[in-house]
Amino acid sequence: MTQTVYLNGKFLPIEQAYVPVLDRGFIFGDGVYEVIPVYSGHPFRLREHLKRLDQSLTAIRLPNPHDAYTWERLIRELLVPNMACSSEYKDISLYLQVTRGPAPRDHAFPIEVVPTVFMMCSPLVTPSAAIREQGVAAVSADDFRWDRCDIKAISLLPNVLLRQMAVDASAVETVLFRDGILTEGAVSNIFAVENGVILAPPKDNHMLPGITYDLILELAEANDIPLEIGHFEEVRIRAADELWTTSSAREILPITTLDGKPIAGGKPGPVFKRMYEIYQNYKQDVMRTVG
Ligand code: PDD
Repeated sequence: MTQTVYLNGKFLPIEQAYVPVLDRGFIFGDGVYEVIPVYSGHPFRLREHLKRLDQSLTAIRLPNPHDAYTWERLIRELLVPNMACSSEYKDISLYLQVTRGPAPRDHAFPIEVVPTVFMMCSPLVTPSAAIREQGVAAVSADDFRWDRCDIKAISLLPNVLLRQMAVDASAVETVLFRDGILTEGAVSNIFAVENGVILAPPKDNHMLPGITYDLILELAEANDIPLEIGHFEEVRIRAADELWTTSSAREILPITTLDGKPIAGGKPGPVFKRMYEIYQNYKQDVMRTVG
């Protein structure tokens, strides 16, 4: 069964979904996006995702085309045909993007803005138990991105190039350091653990404020797991007891080798195992209560 997408007010088969070549998302990457996990039909942390979408739109001076209620209604309407056809995958990753719409090519904002609103669903396959138990490999790179990484912009060429470095090395993620200080990953946030304490970079303009990042901080506090937020030097990260990559797509994954060298014992650590269990319990509780 073909995939149904949402484009500018219409639900239609993906093969019929087209945007004008002068769309500023296509020409300039002038737009923002969200990736929302949907577990058993329920969008996870939807309010938080829609709040971040609003923050990203405000940051690029593009009015939000919908209020939260309308976004939720459209998202739930899109899930219906996609849930029906993805019986093999009970979980879905919902991609949502808003661009500044079509206009004659000029860097300056067009006078008349008709934003392009697009959403699509894809199967969400969370990492297997085997991958979690083994951990994943990562490489490192200098964070050469711009100074507004807090905006979830679709102009992702730097992230594409950085993520490809991992793929070229048969790794899963690229851990980024800016002036020798940990920022995040090419497509995820990065946490470390040192002597039982979770180390987290601060939410600033050099890191995307991840929804998963925020949830981990909430769960650490709620479960009395010590946490330190700060600027951590590369040497300290490489000597850490644990390293994690986190995102809506991956949830929490242990990085057990960095640039081919094991992180500590080269196996997922006890704090990851505890946080993973807490995270899954939270997910179940939330999914049960949403009805
Ligand atoms: N990536 N940092 C970057 C650069 C990211 O691209 C992402 C997410 C994150 C984690 O954010 P969250 O926990 O809200 O998913 C951090 C998404 C999954 C993507 O681009 O596909």
